[in-house]
Amino acid sequence: MKLVTELDEIRNLSEKARCEGKVVGFVPTMGALHEGHLSLIRRARQECDLVITSIFVNPTQFGPNEDYARYPRTLESDCALAEKAGCDVVFAPEVEAIYPREPLTKVHVDKLTEGLCGRSRPGHFDGVCTVVTLLFNLVRPHKAYFGLKDYQQYVVVKRMCADLHVGVEIVPCPLVREPDGLALSSRNKYLSPEERKAALVLFRALEKAKKAHQSGETSAQNLLKLVRETLEAEPLARVDYAELVDAETLEPVQAVQRPAVLALAVYLGDTRLIDNLILD
Ligand code: PAF
Repeated sequence: MKLVTELDEIRNLSEKARCEGKVVGFVPTMGALHEGHLSLIRRARQECDLVITSIFVNPTQFGPNEDYARYPRTLESDCALAEKAGCDVVFAPEVEAIYPREPLTKVHVDKLTEGLCGRSRPGHFDGVCTVVTLLFNLVRPHKAYFGLKDYQQYVVVKRMCADLHVGVEIVPCPLVREPDGLALSSRNKYLSPEERKAALVLFRALEKAKKAHQSGETSAQNLLKLVRETLEAEPLARVDYAELVDAETLEPVQAVQRPAVLALAVYLGDTRLIDNLILD
């Protein structure tokens, strides 16, 4: 497996593969790779001839009081894990190479970014959409793989690619959980042992809603009441949001009539975790 840090090198490498008729698959990440990321790499390996994973902690998607500085940076072990999962090239550019000057250009997706994480993290999705566009311009993939834990990110990026005719197929991949149900996230590393235990409340709340929905409950009010009561019973948890939204428009719904997403963001101490459940 090759480690590339230079922009020209990744461009040339991908261009060469495209000229040879190869399918280029891309897994954009911020590193601290876990099974969730590795499942994306494995899927790309099955479907593509050249698999490129980017590892870049993108400063423009973090708010001023967020965890950019302390975000885990573990390039060496990430490369070993990526290689084992079938990655051909890790692209890990320096921040100065990606942003050599103050960027005056932003990619903004309207409406879909107004609610959920967009409300709690103003500017976050502009940072994501801009860096994803920038990385797509460098890597020129045919397919890019996104995990459904970041459900809103997936919907936003998919719409951005459709609106701008980017020509990259966005492939959604299932959320991956620990055996006890906690959704995998690089931020799980921040949790103290007590917070790690308490964090299971997100999965518990979603499971209750899932059971209620399977028994015929479709009302958003009733499903959310169940979820909020469960979350609020955990003293270490502080709810940022718990919402039931349409799976395509991300607008709040009154009832599950077509595919909907129950989306949660919950603080455990200073750590903000997200999780979701797709109901249809
Ligand atoms: O999901 C992530 O890790 C990031 O938001 C992404 C897509 C790599 C952009 O920085």
